[in-house]
Amino acid sequence: MKKYNIFAGNFGSGKTEISVNTALFGAKKKSLEGKHFIVTAGATIEPIDPVRFISNHSSGKMGYAVAEALAARGAKVTLVSGRTSLECPQGVEKVDVLSAEQMYEACNAVFEQTDGAVMCAAVADYTPQTVADEKLKKGDGDMSIALKRTKDIAASLGEKKGSRVLVGFAMETQNERENAQSKLERKNFDFIVLNSLRTEGAGFRGDTNVVTLIDMKGAEELPLMSKRDVAERIVDKIES
Ligand code: C5P
Repeated sequence: MKKYNIFAGNFGSGKTEISVNTALFGAKKKSLEGKHFIVTAGATIEPIDPVRFISNHSSGKMGYAVAEALAARGAKVTLVSGRTSLECPQGVEKVDVLSAEQMYEACNAVFEQTDGAVMCAAVADYTPQTVADEKLKKGDGDMSIALKRTKDIAASLGEKKGSRVLVGFAMETQNERENAQSKLERKNFDFIVLNSLRTEGAGFRGDTNVVTLIDMKGAEELPLMSKRDVAERIVDKIES
């Protein structure tokens, strides 16, 4: 939903700011009416004991922006959300999950009834092998926690995607293009959105992002944009 600030007034007077919400005018055409998408967003939480967990810095902002952009074009959206402090966008159905395992179950339960999925969540690659029933007590020495691999949710959807659209994200700190390209192929994505943590204005917590959209035909570098505008470009590419 775009907001334009209009300054009204006359010479010599103070300015009055009017915020015009274009959604009120139905500015976006409902080009995705009748379509259904999953969007994953936020960080997964992998419990160690009843008090502690392993997680990451994802704010969920990019995924929530994609969910909002899809819903604004009339799509039904199932937002499978890990931990965030964000409010659910209007018209979006949210399924709250904690762990990678729960996110896997929630996505696989509905994927076959959808037209595709946008995998924005920062999913833990490892989870504790066992979860302690009681709070772990500290001792004098160091301690280590045995971890096991989580399931790759995107790859599991990629295996059964058929003609559905599957979009992934890659957050890289080195060999960005090569890593993104290999994920595109390995997880059977139609395209992947690469953001580099080395780029100013890109990444986890901010409201902006700098991304490159990569598909099998090539790469399109986008300039610094708000996450909401990046979401619009992603949805444009899904439509095309
Ligand atoms: O392999 P990597 O974690 O870098 O892949 C990132 C992409 O795969 C993102 O789209 C992310 O949401 C998705 N992913 C997933 N399940 C995992 C790991 C990543 O869906 N266990």
